[in-house]
Amino acid sequence: MDLTTTYLGLKLKNPVISGASPLVDKLDNVRRLEDSGAAAIVMHSLFEEQITSQQLAEFAHTEFSADSSSEAGSYFPRMEDYVLGPDRYLDQIRKIKEMVDIPVIGSLNGTSLGGWTRHAKLIQEAGADALELNVYYVATNPDETGMEVQMRTFNILEEVKKEVTIPIALKISPYYSSPGNFAKALDARGAAGLVMFNRFYQPDINIEELEASHKLELSNSVELRQRLRWIAIIHSHIKADISLSGGAHTYEDVIKGIMVGAKTVQVVSALLKHGPDYIGEIVTKLDRWMEEHEYESVEQMRGSMGLSNCPDPSVYERANYLKILQLWKV
Ligand SMILES: Cc1cc2nc3c(=O)[nH]c(=O)nc-3n(C[C@H](O)[C@H](O)[C@H](O)COP(=O)(O)O)c2cc1C
Repeated sequence: MDLTTTYLGLKLKNPVISGASPLVDKLDNVRRLEDSGAAAIVMHSLFEEQITSQQLAEFAHTEFSADSSSEAGSYFPRMEDYVLGPDRYLDQIRKIKEMVDIPVIGSLNGTSLGGWTRHAKLIQEAGADALELNVYYVATNPDETGMEVQMRTFNILEEVKKEVTIPIALKISPYYSSPGNFAKALDARGAAGLVMFNRFYQPDINIEELEASHKLELSNSVELRQRLRWIAIIHSHIKADISLSGGAHTYEDVIKGIMVGAKTVQVVSALLKHGPDYIGEIVTKLDRWMEEHEYESVEQMRGSMGLSNCPDPSVYERANYLKILQLWKV
């Protein structure tokens, strides 16, 4: 069985990779990920705010100590909550690169144009084989247009591209009026990959304490569907490799991701829940299932459920919408 795939110009032994998460903070976890069969490891992000932490600390102090209302303060993460600072982050990449043979993908996370993008170069110099760029941005300004939001990402990509020669994958959100058009534009601007999608954390409200509550809930396989739909629609329109991220918990989820056209499938919540060795179970079961179903390779299976042969996917989507509503019986 040929489980190999290529992603961002890297040859991977299988399509299952460990996505950006704090698992990489402990070398023991990284060792276990590699030993269990992870094909690549994505570092958790180095955040713009960590790089510009001095300004941020000053800002947080002046803004929130003057107005110490708990609502405002509770939205603001504390700097000590970011586990590795920039230097330790780069050190960690070096250590991981020394330790493992599988590719290591760095991750840089920010939303504005500025000096932080130069850290892409440091991540490359530390040994990362590729870079994931996460522009996690919640458009809170109603005067900012959709095009301006997109331009923000295009400009950051352009800046980061100037810094590195390693391939860059953009981790994007699903919240664009036309995700396919956005994906094509990133492709045209030289993104080697798209990670679909970012998972946005939605704060809840604690009505007793009158503050936002930030309980991180892990995903489940239901979240996979949004990814499946968009990858199925987009993958045949772009050259960039697509990595599915969000809701992949089982080998079946990985199969679905590949069938809609993903080159790799990233797993995070399932590994945080079951431990890093769990990736081995996914890979073993994927192998077995493909054998039983007489597939010869991942490549043979890839894209078989994409919408590239569908003459008009919007009509197809609309028909399914009608069908699903009419199936409900009261
Ligand atoms: C505890 C935790 C930390 C994360 N840290 C990062 C991060 O630093 N950078 C990033 O791009 N995504 C980060 N993510 C998002 C994951 O990489 C992934 O996109 C998301 O969890 C959806 O995948 P899943 O359904 O497999 O969990 C984090 C997720 C969790 C649960």
